[in-house]
Amino acid sequence: MHLQRRNRILRQSPAIRSLVAETILSPNDFIVPLFIDEGTNIKTEIASMPGYYRMSLDNTVKEVKELWAMGLKSVLLFIKCKDELKDNKGTEALNPQGLMQRSVRAIKEACPDMLVMTDVALDPFSSYGHDGIVEGSEIVNDATVEVLAQMSVSHAAAGADFVAPSDMMDGRIAAIRAALEENNFTKTGIMSYSAKYASCFYGPFRDALDSAPGFGDKKTYQMDYANRTEAIKETLMDVQEGADIVMVKPALAYLDIIREVKNSVDVPVSAYNISGEYAMIKAAAKMGWLNEEKAILETLTAIKRSGADLIATYFAKDAVRLIS
Ligand code: PBG
Repeated sequence: MHLQRRNRILRQSPAIRSLVAETILSPNDFIVPLFIDEGTNIKTEIASMPGYYRMSLDNTVKEVKELWAMGLKSVLLFIKCKDELKDNKGTEALNPQGLMQRSVRAIKEACPDMLVMTDVALDPFSSYGHDGIVEGSEIVNDATVEVLAQMSVSHAAAGADFVAPSDMMDGRIAAIRAALEENNFTKTGIMSYSAKYASCFYGPFRDALDSAPGFGDKKTYQMDYANRTEAIKETLMDVQEGADIVMVKPALAYLDIIREVKNSVDVPVSAYNISGEYAMIKAAAKMGWLNEEKAILETLTAIKRSGADLIATYFAKDAVRLIS
């Protein structure tokens, strides 16, 4: 054969393959989600997320120092609120001595350079397990947005570098930005969950925080997975309202959305490699059906290749070990 072009030339050895690789994972890509619980010296494995833990604040601080030493530079905090503190208004979410506020302060004190991002939504604090205030069977928008804005200010006051609203209410980015400005928090960023879909893959996360909705589902605020154009509408509006970073969530079944968003905005795009995506790899690996390490690297590389500048992932530590 006389071929003009032989594509296999660029694949024939590890050296040439690494030279022409288009997507390289780095510790700088990852955001590490952390689940924080009350108490001391607590480290509870999450049943549906083997190898991932909910930790008390003392252990969380140790973990954060370890993450920093590994080259990981940002954490995304979620807290498990005690049942007796839950109500329909998210009262505990605004408590300056609440677990989230204490956690932010403790982490920033122990590891000042670590970027601390906080989840902003009512579900961990809601007696109904919904992301907003419930009236009848409705999740009401505008009253919820007011609480989310106050919650963001409270996180900023505790020292959060970024607030990360994950609730999908309308108008919350503008309200949060205005509230931060009014309170002179001009350096606090907003990472908006802009295109967040109503997904069955959040199941293990809701186990981790005991935050499953008590009635109904989240389809009146989270997006329908049938839709793509709507993701662009949501994301462009969030950028216009003041989001510094936008997010697509989940990641794996939504790689087309990540690419479409990446091509449409002028801000960094993050993707959330969520709990159910973690659980699937863990379960298949446990059965001996998949090579876990290879599955982790292939998955994270694919998410980055699709257009994610940042990836929130429970595999961050594994990935750093595997790429170093
Ligand atoms: C809730 C929230 C959820 C996740 C992050 N923030 C779950 C939900 O919307 O029910 C999911 C994260 C994951 O599954 O890893 N505001």
